[in-house]
Amino acid sequence: MIALLIIPFDGMAEGPDEDRSSENALFQQKCSLCHSIERPTSKRKSENGWRETVMRMKNVNGCPLSEEEAERIIRYLSDTRGK
Ligand code: HEC
Repeated sequence: MIALLIIPFDGMAEGPDEDRSSENALFQQKCSLCHSIERPTSKRKSENGWRETVMRMKNVNGCPLSEEEAERIIRYLSDTRGK
């Protein structure tokens, strides 16, 4: 069996594929810089709740995210940790 697994180094993967591994990697990397990853993974929030949280991390607390990365993390969290 041939595994068609390309590891995205810079999150440049394009297209509407539903593979969440690059979102998960981005989330793990960015959201464990200041506190443990359990801080977000222990919670469930609505999409708006995650939007508020991620934007606060970015704009108030200083999490280094581009707009595009923030959107990807918001989508990832509301799909996997939504309520
Ligand atoms: C630059 C440091 C920093 C980074 C990076 C960071 N955080 Fe935070 N986070 C904080 C601080 C400081 C607090 C406590 C104050 C507050 O809630 O704003 C916090 C608190 C939290 C909380 C608990 C409060 C709540 O709203 O439920 C969650 C959840 C959270 N962060 C999620 C995230 C996510 C998701 C990311 C990645 C996008 C992230 N954090 C990245 C600094 C950071």
